Amino acid sequence: MAAWRSLVLTLFPEMFPGPLGQSLAGKALDKGLWALDVLDIRDFARDKHRSVDDTPFGGGAGMVMRPDVVDAALCAAKDGWTGRVQDGEEGSGRKAPVLYLSPRGRLLTQGLVRDLAAGPGVALLCGRYEGVDERVLEAHDVLEVSLGDYVLSGGETAALVLMDAVVRLLPGVMGNEDSPGEESFGEEGFEGLLEYPLYTRPAEWQGRAVPEVLTSGHHEKIRLWRRAQAEEITKRRRPDLWARYMKDRP
Ligand code: ADE
Repeated sequence: MAAWRSLVLTLFPEMFPGPLGQSLAGKALDKGLWALDVLDIRDFARDKHRSVDDTPFGGGAGMVMRPDVVDAALCAAKDGWTGRVQDGEEGSGRKAPVLYLSPRGRLLTQGLVRDLAAGPGVALLCGRYEGVDERVLEAHDVLEVSLGDYVLSGGETAALVLMDAVVRLLPGVMGNEDSPGEESFGEEGFEGLLEYPLYTRPAEWQGRAVPEVLTSGHHEKIRLWRRAQAEEITKRRRPDLWARYMKDRP
């Protein structure tokens, strides 16, 4: 199957691959386990000033990215995808979705990350200024995705976070040759719970000992201790996750 591919549309192409050129994601990129293409939205500006934004109708602060310019970039992005399909590359039959990173969007969860990793890839539209003209989002059936309830200065860092979360799930990237389909939030741990505390050598450090059970060699006791810790931490720190966990359990 063709490698998972992401195509980023941005006014700051030099921000990519950025941190994703390093470490696990970077090695996977070099090996062709995923692909990254970047389109500079400014290349699709048509006037002599190469302007990509204008003032908002109705007044207000800041600038809005123009629909005609963003549309031209999105059309070029979609042509790119079509070309690949016509080249006869095997795919899941699913079309890569166009995502717009925005605080208004659907929250990025591990579930959505898993869905995206299982598909052929994504096109990621990164906004700057106040945002993008609404009409072009409607016309291209764009899915808005948010990292959380805070405002970033642009979608680029959010796009990097999204790709990082997806790429680590791809087959071969973390040494997992098979797709880690069963993995969950709290992957090495317990489905739907925050991670239990981790310890390594030295067994005693600054007067603090590692919990005894972890050096007992008793695997079942260790598993039960870790689950109890994960439950306790989740209950205390994230009552929302805890409520969902309790509801989902038979
Ligand atoms: N762009 C600006 N703020 C954002 C957020 N919270 N999530 C995703 N994209 C954004």
